[in-house]
Amino acid sequence: MSIETVAVVGCGVMGAGIAQVVAAAGYRTIVCEQLDAPLQRGLARISDGYARSVKKGSMTTEQADAAYARLVPTLDRHSLAQADVVIEAIAEVAELKYELFRALDSICSPSTIFASNTSSIPIHLIAQATTRPDRVAGFHFFNPVPLMQLIELVSTPFTSAATQDALRQMGTTLNKTVVAVKDESGFIVNRLLIPYLFEAVRLLDAGVADRDAIDTAMKLGCGYPMGPLQLLDVIGLDTAVSIGDVLARELADERLSAPQRLRAMVANGQLGRKSGGGFYPLA
Ligand code: CAA
Repeated sequence: MSIETVAVVGCGVMGAGIAQVVAAAGYRTIVCEQLDAPLQRGLARISDGYARSVKKGSMTTEQADAAYARLVPTLDRHSLAQADVVIEAIAEVAELKYELFRALDSICSPSTIFASNTSSIPIHLIAQATTRPDRVAGFHFFNPVPLMQLIELVSTPFTSAATQDALRQMGTTLNKTVVAVKDESGFIVNRLLIPYLFEAVRLLDAGVADRDAIDTAMKLGCGYPMGPLQLLDVIGLDTAVSIGDVLARELADERLSAPQRLRAMVANGQLGRKSGGGFYPLA
């Protein structure tokens, strides 16, 4: 199938990053938000991302301008009727995702592929909200999207081979490596990463080591590019809590649920780099 127009729904940190790479790869990119303020914030993020790429020398100014011009911002879901592929990157709340896909199912062409960037919500439950489960898959990007090379392609027993092929091919055009994974909660990365991140918070809470010691230990001891507490700030503490809640429920394991300290920080508006700072103050 030929993919020309891609819609990204949700223009937060992940949605903006996804739209940035999709438009840079040459696709007409519809960017859909519910309200104007988050849409404008997302567009500013994308523009800043292109400016960084130009500064870094990985894009010319002309390429960056052309990519930005391929973005079609909208507050109207009905504009998504033109999309060949929809990538959903809204909040990690299952009911919101089901409602969105239920609505898109009647707006979009029956041939449109629905992909979700969910980190943890089972894809088969999203597929069930539509009348096209063969055209629904997970397409999971990593933060920061322009820099991280991976996409997890998550298939349910209903996802057709044609849908998997189309998304795999599209992922390659985005200069990402696509790995296939079955529809099991947390897929590969979060199944391994979330318990590790939460355990770091538990170590901190227990006074076993301080913040800098924990982060330094994992950077220098394991060669990770950042420590777990730094990484929680990048992912967003609210996002990590939501992922943990789904994993704990789906895999019936209480230790996958976020430590109280993380929940308190989120309640206090400390979401990490995106707002309020987190384990580290905002730069
Ligand atoms: N667009 C384009 N270019 C960008 C950019 C953007 N949005 N953001 C940064 N860049 C550029 C920078 O300008 C910089 O250019 P120079 O090298 O010319 O300075 C270059 O990319 C590198 O940027 P940084 O200096 O910020 O990068 P760094 O070397 O400090 O590395 C990092 C940053 C890539 C984030 C690295 O620390 C890292 O790999 N951290 C781990 C991240 C990780 O694990 N992510 C996965 C989280 S899990 C997840 O996302 C899934 C989930 O469901 C929760």
